[in-house]
Amino acid sequence: MPSEDPAARSASASVGAAVAPPPAFAEQANVTAASLREEFAENWPACWERAADLLDWRDDYEAVLGGDGPPFRWFEGGSLNASYNCIDRHVEAGRKNQVALRWAGRLGESRAYTYLDLHREVNEFAAALRALGVEEGDIVTLYMPMIPELPVAMLACARIGAPHSVVFAGFSADALATRMESADSEYLVTCDGYYRRGTPVHQKSKADNARVELDHSVEATVVVDRLGDQPPLDDDEYDYERLVRQHHSATVDPVPRDAGDMLFLIHTSGTTGEPTGVRHTTGGYLAQTAWTARSVLDIKPEDTYWCSADIGWITGHSYIVYGPLALGATTMLYEGAPDYPEKDRVWELIERNAVDVFYTAPTAIRAFMKWGAEYPESHDLSSLRLLGTVGEPINPRAWKWYHEHIGNGECPVVDTWWQTETGAMMVTTLPGVDDMKPGSAGRPLPGISVEVVDEDGAPTDPGEAGYLTVDKPWPAMPLSMVEDTGWFADHEQGRPPLDRFDWAYFTEDAAAVDEDGYITLLGRVDDVINVSGHRFGTMEIESAITAVEGVAEAAVVGAPHDLKGEAIYAYVTPVNADDEATLRERIVAGVEDAIGPIAVPAGIVFTPDLPKTRSGKIMRRLLGAVARDDDLGDISALRNPEVIGELDPIPERED
Ligand code: PRX
Repeated sequence: MPSEDPAARSASASVGAAVAPPPAFAEQANVTAASLREEFAENWPACWERAADLLDWRDDYEAVLGGDGPPFRWFEGGSLNASYNCIDRHVEAGRKNQVALRWAGRLGESRAYTYLDLHREVNEFAAALRALGVEEGDIVTLYMPMIPELPVAMLACARIGAPHSVVFAGFSADALATRMESADSEYLVTCDGYYRRGTPVHQKSKADNARVELDHSVEATVVVDRLGDQPPLDDDEYDYERLVRQHHSATVDPVPRDAGDMLFLIHTSGTTGEPTGVRHTTGGYLAQTAWTARSVLDIKPEDTYWCSADIGWITGHSYIVYGPLALGATTMLYEGAPDYPEKDRVWELIERNAVDVFYTAPTAIRAFMKWGAEYPESHDLSSLRLLGTVGEPINPRAWKWYHEHIGNGECPVVDTWWQTETGAMMVTTLPGVDDMKPGSAGRPLPGISVEVVDEDGAPTDPGEAGYLTVDKPWPAMPLSMVEDTGWFADHEQGRPPLDRFDWAYFTEDAAAVDEDGYITLLGRVDDVINVSGHRFGTMEIESAITAVEGVAEAAVVGAPHDLKGEAIYAYVTPVNADDEATLRERIVAGVEDAIGPIAVPAGIVFTPDLPKTRSGKIMRRLLGAVARDDDLGDISALRNPEVIGELDPIPERED
């Protein structure tokens, strides 16, 4: 069975009273037809043509969904280029002077790229990549913070048909090496360094260390001079600025890619010790991303839109770069922290740039709430038309605060459920049409088919917790699912039986559905912890901890945290209990080195033994209950019940 019974979660979910879409918003919304879900359902899969119509195709597709699948060939026979769709066609449509990218740097700098500017630099960098030897199909790793060169590099890769693999800048050298290794990536674009909360991070030295660890060689490394202290470069290293200058005014024809060709690779945490590579397609991914950016985020070409995620995660790929740029809007990129130099930084940026649509994570909203309403109140936020959240459940209190203090009660709030694997939004409200229920994401989007099932694979009753399952393919499905015929083989690994569906994807999320079909998410049922909307596999962190000298055994669990939603807690058995302070420091350093500071546990508890079953398996469920201060439940399987008395609950930590 899955590692956790979803029913155990049901008590924690609460949903507020329904809120109707504000009439002023509904009047101007991109989607106003309440019948859209029915229309899509009746006309599935041809309905997805509506999404494909938002794109310019080089060769028209012959079928919206080719074959009976799997494999699922979305927009079969069609070809297109993502960079052309995100840039050239807007320039050709006479919108060259519209700002495409507005960047706010950490030190108060700002830069704006019109669509023409973006066209120029993407072409120049694409030419440079080619000159370095990058060919269609080669995977280029991008290891950069939130600077404009990151989306430029993504689009340059897309232009020449080289899939990018963006690695979150905060990840360690080891984590970068693992991802480059698994992608067999021989090209790297990085920067000299950047500031993280006032401390310089030497990105280039992390990249250098990663290169040493790789089994294969790196053909070329491009380095952006972000801090102005570009270290001396080796022969196979190139300064970004110089490269772009050398290719001044170069143009590169966008390479036509088949709809099913890979646009990019992104890694995410799963239940294995290694990150999983997820490969997204060019046609289906871009179509659904553009379609959801338009119908859910209500983005219009003239909008200034801001998604505060990092491009290192899927949210940034889909809704900072591809979705808004495919629609020809202005997308903002912010490098800094939300509380620097002051706690009103976000609101100041929204006011200064007259942001129309703002998309963020519940963890940020909880921090804004804690800081106080006086910060948003000191700014004119009347430009805002719509608010969104993503990444984790938002509780009704935070939802209402966001709605009232940021949206002035006039902006719909879309709570969007999706995953790295789904590529684009799947479950949420259509903001001009649907009532919102604070705490519930909403219904499956038109064309998306989702069911909540119980342990036997049968539909759950309203309000009953079960497993969230997608039972029809969707355009932005990743290549592994497009190709995979064996989704039912997972039964043995503890998924509910899904044989009654022709095809199904089990999301690893628990959920409950109400009488109106609204879905409330109840958290993961696998060994993945969702910290501030980011996924961490417990195994990955445990192997980082057990690799530390002096650690005998470790188990990592998630427990609720006021700001982060969930936080990581580690129970560690030392080899000998002498010097806990030093061991604690070594564990922190070990996790920082293996993954990055973002994965460091909020609490480390030393214990002489870990609770184990008679067969010797660590009982994580029990540790989770201790960390959460919950009822311990059935402990009859425990071999060493005496250990319970030794397990300290996790100390509170502000972080
Ligand atoms: O547990 C769900 C949670 O985030 C997981 C996916 O994480 P990741 O692949 O990193 O993508 C995050 C951004 C799309 C899901 O399995 N999750 C995401 N959105 C929501 C959510 N949980 C509740 N409500 C949401 N709106």
